[in-house]
Amino acid sequence: AKSIAVLTSGGDAPGMNAAIRAVVRSGISKGFSVLGVRRGYNGLLNGDVYEMNLRSVSDIIGRGGTILYTARSPEFNAPEGVKKAAEVCSRLNVVGVVVIGGDGSFRGARDLTNAGVPCIGIPGTIDNDIASSEYTIGFDTAMNTAVDMIDRIRDTAESHDRCSVVEVMGRHCGDLALQVGVATGAISILVPEMPWDFQTDIIDRIRLAQKTGKRHFIIMVAEGVGGTNEIANRIQKETGIETRATILGHVQRGGSPNLRDRVVASEMGYHAVTLLEEGQGNRVVVVRGGKVVDFDITEALNMKRTFNKALYDVALSISI
Ligand code: F6P
Repeated sequence: AKSIAVLTSGGDAPGMNAAIRAVVRSGISKGFSVLGVRRGYNGLLNGDVYEMNLRSVSDIIGRGGTILYTARSPEFNAPEGVKKAAEVCSRLNVVGVVVIGGDGSFRGARDLTNAGVPCIGIPGTIDNDIASSEYTIGFDTAMNTAVDMIDRIRDTAESHDRCSVVEVMGRHCGDLALQVGVATGAISILVPEMPWDFQTDIIDRIRLAQKTGKRHFIIMVAEGVGGTNEIANRIQKETGIETRATILGHVQRGGSPNLRDRVVASEMGYHAVTLLEEGQGNRVVVVRGGKVVDFDITEALNMKRTFNKALYDVALSISI
């Protein structure tokens, strides 16, 4: 039988397993045999693949991480690597590959398609940083995990009349920080997409709120802004408020995917297999206007993200 392969690449995200499950189940129902590739593109280079069946993906829809493991593969990124992976695919009778990951993984999918193996990308990253898609698998779970953690930080910050500076992930993208900042009532939200000034965007806002009786504060910092420890030290020095820094880190990547991530991952996985069945390649499955559709990968990679400035303005006017 003709085979399709599925792999996860780049940082893991909650919901990747749900996407794998959807690819395996719909692939098998459409008459393909489905190969699971371990550790991203590395598995294609080493032939580290195994045949999956309907039961290989039982009980994984609610599990975090990725049962296929993941990696960033420098070897694959070179032209010889892509050629080698294409040869492995043809030896294994693989007629299509579903790649679950971020932009870096989609560039690999484009290159492998050009080398003769049709590939379909599915956006899986907690960063929500894929310009072509309104949503990436893992974002909702990561946001909710961050909110949960920061609610705990708030309890202790409030008890001590402290300021807490909290850094969330997102690489160069401020979406996580913005959403989580609004949801936790952060008095300042620093994101790479917006210019900010230490005095006006942090100190002045704290001072103003202090005048109305506020005594504990959360400052949200996006990873793409960074400098969280320095920001905390400076706040303490300039305001006299005891300040602590927390970098949430990888807790945001793990855990059981929530409903939205399970559902979107299921829809996207199914859609990806439908495209391969039609003989299409070099497509990325995205959410647009709330619907699951697909775009040409090259076009998708050239799209520019837009930051939700309207929500940012809401945060500035109500977190006071
Ligand atoms: O892309 C997901 C992400 O968690 C980013 O938010 C972060 O910049 C990066 O991966 C961290 O990578 P690593 O797991 O290699 O430390």
